[in-house]
Amino acid sequence: MKAVEIKKDIYWVGAKDWNLREFHGYNTPDGSTYNAYLIMDKNITLVDGVKHYMTEEQLSRMKSVVDFNELKYVVVNHVEQDHSGSIPQIMKLAPQAEIVTNMAGKQALEAHYDTTGWNFKVIKTGDVINIGSRNITFLTTPMLHWPDSMMTYVVEDKVLMSNDGFGQHLCCEALFVKDYPNDLVFKNAKSYYANILMPFGKQAQKALSGASELKLDIDMIAPSHGLIWSGKEEVNQILSAYGYWAEGKSENKAVVVYDTMWGATAKLAETAMAEFQDAGINVIKYNLGITHISDVMTEVLDAKYVLVGTPTLNNQIFPRVAGFLTYMKGLQPQNKKGFAFGSYGWKPGVVMEVKKVMDDLGWIKTEAFEEKYTPKSDVLEKFALQLRNFIKSDN
Ligand code: FEO
Repeated sequence: MKAVEIKKDIYWVGAKDWNLREFHGYNTPDGSTYNAYLIMDKNITLVDGVKHYMTEEQLSRMKSVVDFNELKYVVVNHVEQDHSGSIPQIMKLAPQAEIVTNMAGKQALEAHYDTTGWNFKVIKTGDVINIGSRNITFLTTPMLHWPDSMMTYVVEDKVLMSNDGFGQHLCCEALFVKDYPNDLVFKNAKSYYANILMPFGKQAQKALSGASELKLDIDMIAPSHGLIWSGKEEVNQILSAYGYWAEGKSENKAVVVYDTMWGATAKLAETAMAEFQDAGINVIKYNLGITHISDVMTEVLDAKYVLVGTPTLNNQIFPRVAGFLTYMKGLQPQNKKGFAFGSYGWKPGVVMEVKKVMDDLGWIKTEAFEEKYTPKSDVLEKFALQLRNFIKSDN
């Protein structure tokens, strides 16, 4: 397999994971890529590795343009194994190369691998390494996505190699956003942010302001997953989307997510949907029996209202709803108005547990409604009235 030149003497030497359908709990129907970049300058520099089982693909692409004996630097932007899995093999082939990373990256590499004999060059934000006709500089971005995460900027080419930031779990023939339907790339970028980076909005804001403090003039964002954003228009599109998501802004939109055993909670979900529609609010309804939790979270990201419905099973929250709540708790969506609803047979109370999750997340306002067995029309009307007041109190 061959390297692909993305800018003069800068090559994509990553790997395409066409068959990936799951990424630690996140549904990835479009696969993913692990992008790595090789800068062919006086001091040849590799930026990032790939997942361990794709090592051969990366090595083969690298071999098409470089002799491993000539590799001077191996920049490790992030130690999570989807980007560092091939690094031990690369270091075997190029033991003379220096690993360039920040202190947290060095410590994480030492914790994951046998780094005996590896030479480290530890950098911090703003440090510059001259690699010949180019300079590369760094922006540490802790918690985007791990404490070790950082980005590498190629000054003369105005390329930001952003690792997890601005990525998408999307695998296709194209390498550039411009060569794929923009709405599909953007949908994947949003889903990626929602399911990987949502808890780190403050860190994302810090990274964006760090890039502006360093006065990075970015003409290309080359992430380590998915397609490359090239040209000011695309770069600004993804930068401003991250600014919006990181601030926790939301649209006048409701997400109704539920599961059901005998149709009672489904009836409540239907009623909820109708009330939001009648109020002129965009509403999306998901049954967790057929929808993956990560697809729901993509819509929760920018929804103003989140309604979660559960049946009661053995006096507990229904397991698929409990799984969704655990996932949502970890991703910490903010600034929401939450409504818990559901049904029970003989012991009420689980809906209040759902509400508690919303309260613990610090949501702006939360309410709850539960009904014994199947709700009849008078109960549905009572529920609808509570929802109408819930919506009205905002307007
Ligand atoms: Fe793509 Fe945090 O790894």
